[in-house]
Amino acid sequence: MSQDNEKRLAAETAAFRFVGDGSFKDGIIGVGTGSTVNFFIDELSQYRDRIKAAVSSSEASSARLRKLGIDVIDLNAAGRLDLYVDGADECDPHKRLIKGGGAALTREKIVAAASDTFVCIVDASKLVDVLGKFPLPIEVIPMARSHVAREIVARGGNPVWRDGVVTDNGNWIIDVHGWRIANPVELEADLNQIVGVVTVGLFAKRPADVVVVGNRIL
Ligand code: A5P
Repeated sequence: MSQDNEKRLAAETAAFRFVGDGSFKDGIIGVGTGSTVNFFIDELSQYRDRIKAAVSSSEASSARLRKLGIDVIDLNAAGRLDLYVDGADECDPHKRLIKGGGAALTREKIVAAASDTFVCIVDASKLVDVLGKFPLPIEVIPMARSHVAREIVARGGNPVWRDGVVTDNGNWIIDVHGWRIANPVELEADLNQIVGVVTVGLFAKRPADVVVVGNRIL
């Protein structure tokens, strides 16, 4: 099966299992960002009657949701969510993730933190034993880019500025190559302390609750 078909299957499986029963609070669903999530958003058209509104992690997903006629509301107005569905760039056996390949990591982390159940939809190529083959995205305040890069080098990483990319929050992205992340919880906490770092694309302290790979639910 192609990677795209596997992403589509994961999106269909998650929509059927977690949206189809309509058991999420107030009909409000959290929606992430990326090509797998785009398949998921397209699936939502089948379940329109169960969805009152969505909280979205990016301008791109908001636009796609609105095209389907789904109202996109502010997280502050929604309160705590029952369900958040998003993709990932890597997923380890403990459901810890690397995210941010699409530069939406900050809002993704906020919505994940504000949700009771985080369902991660991926194709099998995203499953790894140890995180780090995919370069770790870090969102930084623009004026802190060089400072953060030096701190990364001091920790043995190879930081590469994603030149030309500006996040939905007006910040920049550094991708860190060359790390084999054996202790993701510790690394996430350490990197969060660097001044100028907005968000680290490691979802280790708050991993996914459920991972859907193709039609398998883990
Ligand atoms: C967006 O910033 C990312 O966290 C995405 O969730 C991640 O890159 C997965 O994207 P795909 O579904 O396009 O592979």
